[in-house]
Amino acid sequence: MRSIGREPIFIERGEGAHLWDVDGNRYVDWVSSWGPLILGHAHPVVVQAIQSAAELGTSYGAPTEAEIDLAEEVADRFASIEMLRMTSSGTEASMSALRLARAATGRSAIVKFAGAYHGHLDGLLAEAGSGLATAGVPASPGVTEAQASETLIVPWNDAEAVGEAIAARNPAAVIAEPIPANMGVVPAEPGFLERVRELTADAGVILILDEVISGFRVARGGGQELLGVEADLTVMGKVLGGGLPAAAYGGSRGLMERIAPAGDVYQAGTLSGNPLAVAAGLATLRRLDAAAYIRLAATTERLAEGLREIAGDRPVRVQSVPGLLTVFFSSEPVTDFQGASAANPAAYGRFCRALLDRGVYPPASQFEAWFPSLAHDDEAIAQTLEAAGEGFREAFA
Ligand SMILES: Cc1ncc(COP(=O)(O)O)c(C=O)c1O
Repeated sequence: MRSIGREPIFIERGEGAHLWDVDGNRYVDWVSSWGPLILGHAHPVVVQAIQSAAELGTSYGAPTEAEIDLAEEVADRFASIEMLRMTSSGTEASMSALRLARAATGRSAIVKFAGAYHGHLDGLLAEAGSGLATAGVPASPGVTEAQASETLIVPWNDAEAVGEAIAARNPAAVIAEPIPANMGVVPAEPGFLERVRELTADAGVILILDEVISGFRVARGGGQELLGVEADLTVMGKVLGGGLPAAAYGGSRGLMERIAPAGDVYQAGTLSGNPLAVAAGLATLRRLDAAAYIRLAATTERLAEGLREIAGDRPVRVQSVPGLLTVFFSSEPVTDFQGASAANPAAYGRFCRALLDRGVYPPASQFEAWFPSLAHDDEAIAQTLEAAGEGFREAFA
């Protein structure tokens, strides 16, 4: 909120596609808790699942059958996942996947894309998107030189740079969001991710696809299904926990059996696979059938098309994939972090403030995605488009 010149808005409650703040204002919410709430706020089925689980106890430190059900649901959606390990956050899952990649290859360097965000693990907090990009922070103090030196940063959509980085440093892994959404939504150009898959496979480098945002959202099987590229390791979160803390990483049996106690790569977490989070995640995923994805894609497209129309010939690019979009205040299509960074933050700030004043809550940063949910209906879209008309006028006044 500081980046758009507003005080933070304190929330009292959420229901469906709406949030209410402590001052009694109602907003159409396009942030959806930054992604998890694909069914909307306080969905009755999810609330009921959490209540029922809580009545049986909140944590056991031992396995439950529901964890197996959730793992089977995930494995059914991702062809590349035979086994998975749950964690409580996407950060932990990324960190653990990188540790496994280093153990499996015996190498140490990691290749990451500029503008990508994989959580706040030390080694990846350089040229990261999301909050760091919003605050204009190139890297975080507290990260040692040794940690930073293990990370090579390459531009998104630049296959040549990926090839050169692999040749130069023989890395353990390349980590990518298959559909980057932490510098705003910047999809891969045709053939780019396929080329990264080839380059990594040829060099014995583990390809980690971070589907914390895209997984369970852009398609039933995430970015991998949408783009037809398979990861060696997949990182998941957000929708997986249905609004409670759950995340996971997974891949082939051969790789995942290296994780302790089956193997020698240590990783653990007191609340991993927490029964409440598992109940919320399972209740959410079970409602996400083929029809749900068609509906979410249609909602996204109606919003994106409406925004494009209303923006008219102003320098605005609405970049979208099913379930995600970003309104870039840019005259050029955005294909990488450099392009995203060149977009006009002051105009975006005026646009956001105008929307908030009219009861519409967009992400208060151009370096984040809008997260449509299945609770957003025609009325929510109509209110948003009406506010956006004023918003574009005020942004360019
Ligand atoms: C792509 C991606 N990976 C990882 C993370 C980290 O997840 P968490 O915030 O649960 O630690 C995020 C968070 O926004 C993310 O967008």
